[in-house]
Amino acid sequence: RSTLDDDLFLRPLASTDNARGHIELLTVLTSAPALSQQTYASTFQELKAALNTYFVIVIVQRSTDKIVGCGSLVVERKFLRNAGLVGHIEDIAVSKSMQGRKLGLKIINTLEDIGKGVGCYKIILDCSQSNIPFYEKCGFKQKEYQMVRYM
Ligand code: ACO
Repeated sequence: RSTLDDDLFLRPLASTDNARGHIELLTVLTSAPALSQQTYASTFQELKAALNTYFVIVIVQRSTDKIVGCGSLVVERKFLRNAGLVGHIEDIAVSKSMQGRKLGLKIINTLEDIGKGVGCYKIILDCSQSNIPFYEKCGFKQKEYQMVRYM
């Protein structure tokens, strides 16, 4: 398991993290327009209200009080596998200037620990071909295909 240097710490997302650049960080992934604090806080509350379903973690840089990494685990209840749980890893992002310093690995390791802790029988994710080597380094293997239809 990788460790973080002293200027960084990992914690669950907080309702005030909009001001620490959470949404701006997500722009390394895809379109992530700024949210008003009201929308951010109500989205945070919506996720929190779905008990034991959304686990969003962030890495904060102490010296700047900015979020430099984040990731989510969404836990899905199944009817199959004896009403089992599947974990979905989503929205992994590390700020450009901090990439290549094992923050991504730390985020994945932590989400895996959470998934294991809540009893997921597997954890899955979708990614681009270029990110396959990263997830392989994290211990994942390629399986199946992703399908999408935009609305
Ligand atoms: N190709 C090959 N190897 C890679 C890549 C890559 N694209 N990215 C990381 N690695 C390797 C690293 O070299 C390292 O290997 P090592 O242990 O041999 O040194 C290992 O994977 C761990 O790398 P980290 O330093 O932890 O990776 P980083 O902190 O840069 O995070 C991430 C990787 C999350 C992909 C980051 O580059 C990023 O935010 N990219 C833009 C957004 C993105 O694509 N997010 C993932 C979308 S998929 C999803 O969210 C489910």
